Amino acid sequence: MRVAVTGANGLLGGDAVDLLAGRHQVLALGRGPCRLPPGPYRWADADLCDGRSVELALLDFRAEAVLHAGAMTDVDGCEREPEAAWRANVGGTEQVARACRALQARLVAISTDYVFDGTDGPYPEDAVPNPRGAYARTKRAGEEAALLLAPDCAVARVSVVYSGRPGAKPTFATQVVEKLSRGEPVKAFADQFVSPTLARNGAAMALELLLETDLGGVIHASGGTTLDRVDFARRIARRFRLQGDVVPVRTAEVKLLAPRPLRCGLKVDRAAALLREKPLQVDAAIERFHAEWSRRLAA
Ligand SMILES: NC(=O)c1ccc[n+]([C@@H]2O[C@H](COP(=O)([O-])OP(=O)(O)OC[C@H]3O[C@@H](n4cnc5c(N)ncnc54)[C@H](OP(=O)(O)O)[C@@H]3O)[C@@H](O)[C@H]2O)c1
Repeated sequence: MRVAVTGANGLLGGDAVDLLAGRHQVLALGRGPCRLPPGPYRWADADLCDGRSVELALLDFRAEAVLHAGAMTDVDGCEREPEAAWRANVGGTEQVARACRALQARLVAISTDYVFDGTDGPYPEDAVPNPRGAYARTKRAGEEAALLLAPDCAVARVSVVYSGRPGAKPTFATQVVEKLSRGEPVKAFADQFVSPTLARNGAAMALELLLETDLGGVIHASGGTTLDRVDFARRIARRFRLQGDVVPVRTAEVKLLAPRPLRCGLKVDRAAALLREKPLQVDAAIERFHAEWSRRLAA
């Protein structure tokens, strides 16, 4: 099958390409040069922000299925540049969805728990979104664009993505490991509740949804445990046998440009019931993160 992945240099997209390569004909789409290890996939440089380059690349490839994982994900960056965020996260999703419509291709678009306001999470799929901030609003509008424009579409929401894969970009989880390893304390928000998603687990659920089901609508495909970031960091420290301080801070004490939903995270009962790849509980996911990290150090 011809399967395309946007955001292929990213945390989730990179793992998706790795899971697909060799099993399908794969088009990996990203901005600029490829930063993934070489493999049996084709690379295309296409910008979600310009009018049509992603759409044309998908049409040219004659994609039969598309995992749309590309997005402007810097939450404060989106707040600083809301128009760029809109172009990437709404306009870019429209490009992808238009191509899927023209090709009659199935689409899974990745979204976020930030579509909720964080007053009473974790949220089930039928909770009413109330996005706050530019990133959140553009992701919510992107969900609607995907669902309205592409006839065969599902939206898979994830939360706080992390990966130990060699080459994967730094995240809160990798900072915890790196700072504590250097003997430095690490600050963590005690009042932000999230459902951390190991990229490979999220990618595997999204690909199963894309290639092995015809489920529509929204499905939550994050990790299976909702916890605060201090708890998450301490669990990582414990598994990596790292001493040192995880220092609790409150969101209001830190100057952040964009609002953060506090009691957020996702309920994943639907994914757990319907998918073979299950949302991992946090300690099982950290175990895999540790194995990824060991491979990264050995590479
Ligand atoms: N990261 C999280 O904690 C998190 C949480 C909830 C939901 N999500 C959602 O999960 C999905 C996957 O994100 P991720 O976690 O894999 O984050 P990521 O590592 O930042 O991946 C996003 C990818 O999109 C690419 N991109 C950004 N702007 C682009 C543009 N104008 N044209 C083409 N490509 C562009 C980025 O390219 P570069 O690598 O060149 O920058 C990056 O590779 C996104 O829909 C995101 O909103 C992420």
